[in-house]
Amino acid sequence: MAFPTNRPRRLRRTAALRRLVEQTRLHPADFVLPLFVKEGINEAIDVASMPGVQQHSLDSLRKAAHGAVHAGVGGLILFGIPGHKDAIGTQADSDDGIVQQALRALRADLGDSTVLMADLCLCEYTDHGHCGPLTADGSTVDNDVTLVRYASVALAQVEAGADVVAPSGMMDGQVAVIRDAIETAGYADRAILAYAAKYASAFYGPFRDAAESKPSFGDRRAYQMNPANGDEALLEVFADLDQGADAVMVKPAGPYLDVITRVSDAVDVPVAAYQVSGEYAMLEAAAAQGWIERERAIVESVTAIKRAGAQTVLTYWATELALLLR
Ligand code: PBG
Repeated sequence: MAFPTNRPRRLRRTAALRRLVEQTRLHPADFVLPLFVKEGINEAIDVASMPGVQQHSLDSLRKAAHGAVHAGVGGLILFGIPGHKDAIGTQADSDDGIVQQALRALRADLGDSTVLMADLCLCEYTDHGHCGPLTADGSTVDNDVTLVRYASVALAQVEAGADVVAPSGMMDGQVAVIRDAIETAGYADRAILAYAAKYASAFYGPFRDAAESKPSFGDRRAYQMNPANGDEALLEVFADLDQGADAVMVKPAGPYLDVITRVSDAVDVPVAAYQVSGEYAMLEAAAAQGWIERERAIVESVTAIKRAGAQTVLTYWATELALLLR
């Protein structure tokens, strides 16, 4: 219909009208809070590049987890920083590895009141900071040797109580070996959230401070995806679903909204998106300067990710947003 009959502003006139026709609503249960737990500390340590985010001790982790669950957050995803690193990331699948300890403590505290996820990767555990053991010449990550390690890490994590394991290493075949390992060991009921479309992104910088996982040489471009590629996201997503993934993730989120939309249009499983450390740090930095309205920008950034098609959003603002929405 032609102007002036068609006046979209009519439905924007009052807050009540805007609320009535609002298409995308945020709900705390759709948020997952990433948490860092570090072995051998007694008090939480602030992460300089992520104001408001900390490396937790087991005790402070339990408090943060309780706070998140109490606020209504849908789930938690754990990242571990071990006391000792080596070439193959031994601590990642050790029974008393820090994430395994954390999973047991949180399960004891929280029962089944939340979803406990474990990020499944080796970059925090290897002394070279890459996501798996290196090839003999040390030039890159050995894909198939890494798969054997991932299967073992998955087992350690489900034995310690993870509801969901989330492989983030971008090795070919990782979902298949993990699915096989946990089925064979009697954990057929545990879910895999695959970091399916994970890009080699500059926006992970602050995370590598938080997780102490910066590669000591080179970068991750030989295993994570090229930011220029869209079709390849679907290739990765369908490969992971074929291999037994229960849900898929796109990462980062904000700069990849088109990928989120393509993936959510293409699959019937839940789609998650990870609003990563750099997305968080940029907005916090601009807000600290007074250059941007902090709360509005946070809500807008997460709303955009949901509008694009993500059902679940992993965000460092999960608890704060959940409290804000109440
Ligand atoms: C790898 C992993 C990374 C992130 C989550 N899992 C970093 C990387 O690939 O280097 C990044 C999360 C963020 O930036 O917030 N284990």
